[in-house]
Amino acid sequence: MRVAMVSLFPEMLGLVRDLGVTGRAVRDERLSLTAINPRDYTLDRHRSVDDRPYGGGPGMVMRPEPLAAALEAGREFAGDGATVIYLSPQGQRFDHGRAKELAELPGMVLLAGRYEGVDERLIRSAVDEELSIGDYVLSGGELAALVVIDAVARLLPGVLGHEDSAAEDSFAQGLLDCPHFTRPEQYEGQDVPDVLLSGDHAAIRRWRLKQALGRTWERRPDLLDALEQKRQLTAEEQK
Ligand code: ADE
Repeated sequence: MRVAMVSLFPEMLGLVRDLGVTGRAVRDERLSLTAINPRDYTLDRHRSVDDRPYGGGPGMVMRPEPLAAALEAGREFAGDGATVIYLSPQGQRFDHGRAKELAELPGMVLLAGRYEGVDERLIRSAVDEELSIGDYVLSGGELAALVVIDAVARLLPGVLGHEDSAAEDSFAQGLLDCPHFTRPEQYEGQDVPDVLLSGDHAAIRRWRLKQALGRTWERRPDLLDALEQKRQLTAEEQK
């Protein structure tokens, strides 16, 4: 997959480009990343990327022209069939389902805004979709773009090894993850659950599912409601 991040802070892409699972995906050429700075697409002497908002009020708004040129460069990098996503608190909520759909695409162009946001006309003319990573306001869209890149990259074929396959992930089944334990067998007066030491793989699988269900019920009952609705839908579809 080819991904361009359009941002005034291109250095921030280094966090996913150089480190961890996403860094390995880049080195293995399963993921190609580039950062494009809209400041490089300004034509004026001051290289200005922002201006005062029409109608007044605090803060500045990102000007449409440099962003349009930067997005065009992003589209060139990401290739035909890439989708252009603007990260903002006004967007649709990003979740595992959307990550799976995005992982099917050949490329993405992620627009990270700063200041009060970007000129609305740029969004209407050059953006395919607006995504939010949660109901809080970040100082810029970069961290949200990195979240999307990370969540999508781990779903690309071959990015995760067999032992940490994405199919086992929390949310892949619509449930929270079960608890995990490693050595030592005793820690702070707490034992590792006996079943995990039993070598009985069927019993371990059952225990993990039970834990996942219990935690989901306690912490995120809304996820169980969503699963139930999905089950009813597929039952309907089968009729
Ligand atoms: N930019 C600022 N806050 C954001 C959020 N919550 N999600 C996505 N992009 C953002």
